[in-house]
Amino acid sequence: MKNFEYKNPTKIIFGKDTIPKLNAELPPNAKILMLYGGGSIKKNGIYDQVSQALAGFEVIEFGGIPPNPEYAILMKALEVIKKENITFLLAVGGGSVIDGTKFLSSAALFEGDEPWDILSKRIRTNKGMPFGTVLTLPATGTEMNSGAVITRAETKEKFSMGGPGLFPAFSILDPNVIKSIPKRQIANGIADAFTHVLEQYMTYPVGALLQDRISESIIQTLVEVAPKMLEEDFDYTTASNFMWACTMALNGLIQKGVPTDWAIHMMGHELTALYGIDHARTLAIIAESHYKYNLEDKKEKLAQYGERVWNITEGTLEEKAQKAIEKTTAFYQSLGIKTKLSEYTQDYKGTAETIANRFEERGWKGLGERQKVTPKDVVKIVEMAY
Ligand code: NZQ
Ligand code: ZN
Repeated sequence: MKNFEYKNPTKIIFGKDTIPKLNAELPPNAKILMLYGGGSIKKNGIYDQVSQALAGFEVIEFGGIPPNPEYAILMKALEVIKKENITFLLAVGGGSVIDGTKFLSSAALFEGDEPWDILSKRIRTNKGMPFGTVLTLPATGTEMNSGAVITRAETKEKFSMGGPGLFPAFSILDPNVIKSIPKRQIANGIADAFTHVLEQYMTYPVGALLQDRISESIIQTLVEVAPKMLEEDFDYTTASNFMWACTMALNGLIQKGVPTDWAIHMMGHELTALYGIDHARTLAIIAESHYKYNLEDKKEKLAQYGERVWNITEGTLEEKAQKAIEKTTAFYQSLGIKTKLSEYTQDYKGTAETIANRFEERGWKGLGERQKVTPKDVVKIVEMAY
């Protein structure tokens, strides 16, 4: 096991009817900017619940943060923060609203001239404006981690940011919010959380027995709840397991003491930036070819996952690893998610070179747990995903 340090300061308030608890978590005398997305919260009752919980506080609202939170829109929210002397941010939404809020938390205290530098120059945020979240869509894990991903339509770029200053002070997770989520987004959430575990697990063995078992159990939980989550009827117990599994998949715990990959996400983000494909779907497009291409480096963990998650007991290590990749693709497809780029766009030729060139321009020499997936390898992996 590798050395590690672990600190996660986010307070999680989990369960039925927990949104009213928001009131007690807010700093007294805070001037709050409440941020939300395209309006789903106004239709499903979450807006009303949050508004009631904010009684007694001075609150300004900023709605309209789109999926894949857009820099230009966030810059308008930043103006409001400065003009109104906001002291606390409250995100009510899914990954996009929460990530947008994290950017604002950082940008509000940023001393440079150009907040885009936080993303393009990968400036870490050690201190941000304090913020809390009411999660409306389990998927990304952003409610309990210190990362964010921001999009800039003008340049078709999608960049990550983060730092210890970007953990939410608190996150409220009421599984009942899941009732109104369209099945397409539920499928995305399952696929995203599933891939988050893979990115922190499918590397090479380092004798981290507990991390491996926790990762496998998060995956097994997602696989178990997936069919029920896609049924019409809402089941609270299933929803609560789904929600907590998504949070646990990316709150820092399972990555401690182990190598991590994240190359699928790096390539996937480019597909969203170029074609607007939902984040989770880009991961389903890349995963199979990434694992096939890097089979030699990942075969031990692939075979272990195949045995423990998918009960693949026959064959050599390589055969088990191959079967595990097939099972992974079949799982994405069981969610109704297509796994080839050509199933999303007809305009895919040249995508592999475009992505590799972008990585080269940014000076990204090697991705993955061994930093050995070069732009040349990226060309091959993305081509295999056509
Ligand atoms: O905008 P509204 O009207 O709220 O509708 C949203 C949006 O259209 C809707 N929705 C959310 N909660 C709902 C609901 N509809 C009905 N009922 C509810 N309770 O769902 C749509 C998608 O929302 P979005 O926030 O975009 O989805 P998600 O949570 O999947 O977030 C995706 C973003 O997170 C980033 C992705 O790149 C993408 O930009 N990620 C963030 C990570 C992180 N910070 O750790 C890690 C991830 O790997 C990921 O990259
Ligand atoms: Zn993701």
